[in-house]
Amino acid sequence: MQQWSSEYSVGNELLDAHHHVFFEMVTELRDDLEKEHKDIDAHTIIAFLSDYIDMHFHVEEQYMTAIGFPELSKHTVVHHQFAEHVNGLLHHSTQSASEVLNFMQQWLIQHILCEDKLYYLHAQRQLHK
Ligand SMILES: [Fe+2]
Repeated sequence: MQQWSSEYSVGNELLDAHHHVFFEMVTELRDDLEKEHKDIDAHTIIAFLSDYIDMHFHVEEQYMTAIGFPELSKHTVVHHQFAEHVNGLLHHSTQSASEVLNFMQQWLIQHILCEDKLYYLHAQRQLHK
């Protein structure tokens, strides 16, 4: 099971907290599915997480604007593509709730490490100018 750890830090307390809460929600939902055998359908999970992620992307984009991140538009496109993909899942999902959780978490981990880290590095460089 994947937990949030400092290796995922993007150098901003609020955005780190969003990522951390997302990881915790995935863990809790997975526990509900696996241990308590609760009847949670994929549609409910996707709708819940996609609302949360939309809020997070919005705040993250505001932050990238505030720090003058030069690759903001590229990053915003990546957010939109993910949001559209999730929206597609919401309307045409044949995946189980576990598969959806795994997909969303793996995507977020990869996104933090590959793309969010770029604005982190930019903010660091600005600090040491
Ligand atoms: Fe992002």
